[in-house]
Amino acid sequence: MSCTILSSPLQGFTDYRFRNAHEKWMGGVDTYYAPYIRLQGHLDIKKSYMRDLLPVNNSVRQLIPQVMTNSAEEFLFVAAFVQGLGYQELNWNLGCPYPMVTRRGLGSGLLKHTGKIDDLLRRVSDESEITVSLKLRLGYDDSHEILNLLPVLEKHKIKNLIIHPDWESNFIKEKSIWIHFNNVLKIPVILSPIMATSTQ
Ligand SMILES: Cc1cc2nc3c(=O)[nH]c(=O)nc-3n(C[C@H](O)[C@H](O)[C@H](O)COP(=O)(O)O)c2cc1C
Repeated sequence: MSCTILSSPLQGFTDYRFRNAHEKWMGGVDTYYAPYIRLQGHLDIKKSYMRDLLPVNNSVRQLIPQVMTNSAEEFLFVAAFVQGLGYQELNWNLGCPYPMVTRRGLGSGLLKHTGKIDDLLRRVSDESEITVSLKLRLGYDDSHEILNLLPVLEKHKIKNLIIHPDWESNFIKEKSIWIHFNNVLKIPVILSPIMATSTQ
């Protein structure tokens, strides 16, 4: 079995300088995820996000940009921006647990709003060619939230789900969920922080 090593993003730490230095001096990572882009109420990309993603600043072999939003307009805007830089995939952050984020219905605060997620994914697939992947938790208030979300996600074309499980949660010990992930769910699942996935 071969393994693919993915590097999780850490906002404020894993910028292009870190990623380039890591690849140069350590190596071993197949794909780096960039920390999320978050718009500040208008369709405008901050210079720091631009710098972080510009191909001329990035020497790693594969980089996937990430967005944190609950708006289809914003998602489509960021998708067009990253496509303009040559990226083909945009990872959607539905995992951030920080109250400042979740209170605004962003990150893992969006997980229980399955209708919103459904609407956004439908619009993105109707209006963009971008490949979508997701980084998410099992839930925010309750780790069973994901069970309501999975049927919604399965309606859409999603490359993979990177799931950050709460290892202390009883949910994680329920075999049925892992059987579901393995045998029923059609979307490939990657567990973070294990960060390695088998490839065929
Ligand atoms: C300071 C900090 C910043 C982070 N920024 C991001 C981010 O921009 N995007 C993201 O998907 N995850 C982000 N994460 C989550 C990590 O990528 C990762 O999933 C998580 O920290 C791994 O779990 P562990 O911290 O329990 O090892 C961040 C985590 C920390 C601690």
